[in-house]
Amino acid sequence: MAKNPMNNLSYGLFVLTAAEGEKHNGCIINTVTQVTTEPNQITIAVNKANYTNEMIRRTGKFTVSVLSEEADFDLFKHFGFQSGRNVDKFADFTDARPVENGTMCITRGTNAYISAKVVQEIDLSTHTLFLAEVTASEVLADVPSATYAYYHAHIKPAPAPKKPEGKAVWVCQICGYVYEGDPIPADFICPLCKHPASDFERQVQPAKEEKAVWVCNICGYVYEGDPIPADFICPLCKHPASDFSRKVE
Ligand SMILES: Cc1cc2nc3c(=O)[nH]c(=O)nc-3n(C[C@H](O)[C@H](O)[C@H](O)COP(=O)(O)O)c2cc1C
Repeated sequence: MAKNPMNNLSYGLFVLTAAEGEKHNGCIINTVTQVTTEPNQITIAVNKANYTNEMIRRTGKFTVSVLSEEADFDLFKHFGFQSGRNVDKFADFTDARPVENGTMCITRGTNAYISAKVVQEIDLSTHTLFLAEVTASEVLADVPSATYAYYHAHIKPAPAPKKPEGKAVWVCQICGYVYEGDPIPADFICPLCKHPASDFERQVQPAKEEKAVWVCNICGYVYEGDPIPADFICPLCKHPASDFSRKVE
């Protein structure tokens, strides 16, 4: 059973793209909602730390490509784990084509695109909520859309964090990043996917059960047990238990 009721909300997943002059960029979001049909309007919530947010605020237009169950983890890493501030995400990315409003739609691992122009911006502190009117849309493939739950179950590799024994670490439930410390600072932001500390789960690797043996100081014979019986005699050199030292493996 889910521990956090907020995790019971269901979301789709999208590549949100923007264009400014020659610069194209995009990021992964899970916050696209159709809010009215007449006019046809959608909202998106985008972290202010995302370069895509800045581009949309300056240009007032964007496209969301709807990720399908055929999307692979590389696509999420490409758009969701690095920023267009530092890399050109479209430099060698060939699975995209320009659409009506000059932004890119993603053609691999997606099943539709929806372009929109911003009609209102709401400041949500960490995020901007953009209300936008749909200007163009097209179905690209007949493959089911990927939900957040599908991403967790089938796309994101199971986290295999290198956990220090007996110590707690915090694992990002979105991308698998491991914060090596405990507790995680309340204002911590995942350096990969920019999700907050509340999206991290505390995981503890129980310390390995220690196994002790007794080694004969005279001949090196190993008694596999703990404690060594007081009347034990080394079967090799015949020395008593008092000549054995306890060693922990
Ligand atoms: C599964 C997943 C879901 C995400 N959802 C959102 C989201 O809803 N809103 C958001 O602002 N960022 C979201 N992100 C984080 C951005 O995609 C990420 O910070 C990206 O690197 C920003 O790129 P940019 O700086 O080029 O815009 C998500 C990332 C992943 C992997």
